[in-house]
Amino acid sequence: MSVSVHDLELPAVELIDLDRTEALAVLAEAREGHWLARTPMGYMVTRHEDVTAILRDRRFLSALSLITQMQGIDESRFLERRRRSILSVDGEEHARLRRLVAPAFTPKSADRLRPFMHDVIDGLVDKVTPDGRCELVEDICEPYPIPIICELLGAPKEDWKLFSNWATDIFRIFNNDLENDMDRIDAASDELDSYVRAMVEERRSRPADDLLSDLIAIEEEGDRLDTDDLVGLAEAVLMAGTDTTRNQLACAVALFTEHPDQWAMLAERPELARRTVEEAMRFLGAVRGTVRITGEDVEYRGVLFPTGTLVATSLAGANFDDEAFETPETFDITKERGTPQMTFGSGIHFCLGASLARAELAEALPLLARRMPDLTVDGSIEWKPPTVGIWGPARLPLRFSPGN
Ligand code: HEM
Repeated sequence: MSVSVHDLELPAVELIDLDRTEALAVLAEAREGHWLARTPMGYMVTRHEDVTAILRDRRFLSALSLITQMQGIDESRFLERRRRSILSVDGEEHARLRRLVAPAFTPKSADRLRPFMHDVIDGLVDKVTPDGRCELVEDICEPYPIPIICELLGAPKEDWKLFSNWATDIFRIFNNDLENDMDRIDAASDELDSYVRAMVEERRSRPADDLLSDLIAIEEEGDRLDTDDLVGLAEAVLMAGTDTTRNQLACAVALFTEHPDQWAMLAERPELARRTVEEAMRFLGAVRGTVRITGEDVEYRGVLFPTGTLVATSLAGANFDDEAFETPETFDITKERGTPQMTFGSGIHFCLGASLARAELAEALPLLARRMPDLTVDGSIEWKPPTVGIWGPARLPLRFSPGN
């Protein structure tokens, strides 16, 4: 006999006003008490094992589309545009999209872009090394991902600024002020939509060496992506692949300011890049959680989750679970941890761009370590409020030895 989750006595977790250290302490305490916790919105899982299991359990559906509904928006054009996005669909529709796009997002296809990534980050660092100081977020992290997404899609350099503006406006979705931001979000989405449609037309007649051409060419058992699918994917990639990478890079560098010996080691031993990325994402992930909703009555570990129950999965909690990681509170880029870090999620919605993001971070971090030695914070780090979904430093002023 299963017990309804609503009838359980559970530790209460309220993270909204807490800084990172306080939040991790609350999560650790909740993990000790029960595998589930109660939050003001619903429930939360904080252990690595349960976070993984729930994200892999297809009865728990993606709740991303609810962000808009929870803000009281029911404008049909806005919702329609995102309803079919890979980020929010589930079931067969999602499986179809994933099946069709997966071949274009392999580690091998991300590796094709590594020389380009290297040049972009090197060019950004060139501008700041003579001074020996920079504000990392504005000077390096903000501009880094857009050229890469443009190169991936096949958009030329003169259009980078357009993409950057569209990304900024579309990200307003997460600013909690949809009523005022709706017009700008719609205008940016419309422009991106027409731009990508024109690109798709062009690539259909003249294929190039880029993601859109690859996606157009993919065919599986007679099924293909149509123009609407391709436009939706371009928006999803722009939305999911820009702010995440920026914030993750800034989080990683902020972390290294507390570990100067490991920064120096990374400069000396760039072959540690792969482990560094995993350890930095485990220790200080830019995405700290995601949400699922039950689409039916679900029984899991003897607990009944009635239809419509919201379950938050704490990726940050899972990344600090001492059942999964030995000494989780130690940051160590030389340590091969046997358990996967959770900042890319898990299961069917596991980050589609993980290989790309890993490559971007692995190209950037050793290069920054080599060219910005003796790194220190120039003043103090300003963090984004803990309420934002994709989180990291808002300002990261740095000093380092100039001229490298
Ligand atoms: C370090 C940077 C990144 C982080 C931390 C990150 C994190 C995540 C997470 C946690 C999810 C799963 C969300 C959920 O289960 O609800 C996800 C999904 C996704 N990510 Fe990333 N991501 C990053 C970079 C990228 C990049 C560069 C791209 C672009 C290609 C991308 C594209 C996507 C897409 C399309 C999805 C949806 C996949 C699906 O629902 O099937 N991400 N990402």
